[in-house]
Amino acid sequence: MRPAALFSAGLLILSALAGAPGARGDGGYQRLEGHGGPVKGVAVSPDGRFALTASFDYSVGFWDLVSGDLIRWLEGHEAAANAVAFLPDGRRAISAGDDFDLILWDLETGQALKRLEGHKGKLIAVSISPDGTLAASSGWDGRIGLWPLTAPRGPRWLKGHRANVNDAKFTADGGTLYTASYDGTIRRWDVATGALERVVVEHGFGVNHLILNEEAGWLAYGAVDGAVRAIDLATGEELADLTAERRPILALAKTPDGRYLAVGDGEGYIMVIDTADWTIARDFRAAVRGPIWALAYDAQGDRLLAGGLAEDAVLWPVGGSKDALFAADQRLFDRPPEEMSNGERQFVRKCSICHTLERPETTSDLRRAGPTLYALFGRRAGTVAGYRYSGALNGSDLIWEAETINQLFELGPDHFTPGSKMPMQRIAKLEDRQDLIAYLRTNTGPRSDGKPTSGGSPEPAGGTQ
Ligand code: HEC
Repeated sequence: MRPAALFSAGLLILSALAGAPGARGDGGYQRLEGHGGPVKGVAVSPDGRFALTASFDYSVGFWDLVSGDLIRWLEGHEAAANAVAFLPDGRRAISAGDDFDLILWDLETGQALKRLEGHKGKLIAVSISPDGTLAASSGWDGRIGLWPLTAPRGPRWLKGHRANVNDAKFTADGGTLYTASYDGTIRRWDVATGALERVVVEHGFGVNHLILNEEAGWLAYGAVDGAVRAIDLATGEELADLTAERRPILALAKTPDGRYLAVGDGEGYIMVIDTADWTIARDFRAAVRGPIWALAYDAQGDRLLAGGLAEDAVLWPVGGSKDALFAADQRLFDRPPEEMSNGERQFVRKCSICHTLERPETTSDLRRAGPTLYALFGRRAGTVAGYRYSGALNGSDLIWEAETINQLFELGPDHFTPGSKMPMQRIAKLEDRQDLIAYLRTNTGPRSDGKPTSGGSPEPAGGTQ
């Protein structure tokens, strides 16, 4: 093990022991900052300690997930890097780009070991066979390339899709490949012979991503029309349709245990599905602006790495493996969003990923990026005991009332409380802010100053939309 790896293993143990909010990043929320353009692809190493990000800025970032620090940039693509995958040894990786090429990297040195050329269109996805001997590239030239990584042979091409190929996934034995295309189909291929076995799905609209869970017997896919569906691998029968009103679906990821499926869309939301009963476990807005292009879970399924239009990748503490954490939130998701009031929907989608409404003493085991909003009204900013605030709120004179909360989201934390750690920006509509404040007023328990809950604090003054 390299000294750096030893060092980060030590940190990992330390931060696990500390356990307090903010011990690892901020309650698990962490940004990987440094790219000079949107992040199109992300991957987490098999041991969960490292991450890779592929960006529009042509580079691939190699990161230490414990500290959130960049280890090095991998430079070699001559156009946007779109996808990246670790090899099973965790020491090498492959990236794919708009320059039509794949690059095999030595992560220890940052050297490009090999450039894999031959596609005639940009590459949007790359997958590695479980034994690490083959890479499958999905090309917008309508072909899938199968690249031997251990033998000095050229690629084999799988031809049959009638449009751009967007994704490819190997089965656990490496013998079968499933591919998704803009031609609206998912196809199954025999890897040894390169023969098309059959068309598994005919969706009609372009299919952007697919996820295989052979143990549980399903395949899930996301499409340009917003469809999120799961089918039975054996029968092809539809198991679940979780299509929301948002489109297109641009990213899918599953937890290592296969239980949770995360879906990223063109409108910046992440939805987490519990595949045990195909219900929505979480649904939140993860990007202030623009789509979610890439998703990957960490080794425990606790944190979800997301890439999008912003120039950083963000780790979200979604707690995939932590049933307790989900249970605490379950009441927020026990009804479909359309049955919620607008204020509740605002909270669930825009705040609940980082804040609970629980009494501080009950939240110690609920990792969240932000402090609890319990007893928010009448509370001086920066005063929840045990939470590590930024200098912007620590020692602030601000008192949280309808008007100050309104301003926080009318102007955005970056303007109203400059230097704040809260990344959420503005809520443009006055009505949405008022509904959210009304929801918070009735769901954050008593006021901090002991005054009666109703009356006393002014409604937010009117403002411009
Ligand atoms: C991505 C995580 C994140 C999201 C989403 C988020 N917050 Fe925060 N919030 C934080 C963090 C972190 C802080 C602490 C800021 C600091 O210390 O500067 C905070 C602080 C606050 C505070 C000040 C609390 C105090 O004790 O002074 C309020 C009020 C607040 N958030 C409300 C909201 C509301 C309402 C929403 C939804 C519209 C929201 N936040 C969405 C992370 C988030």
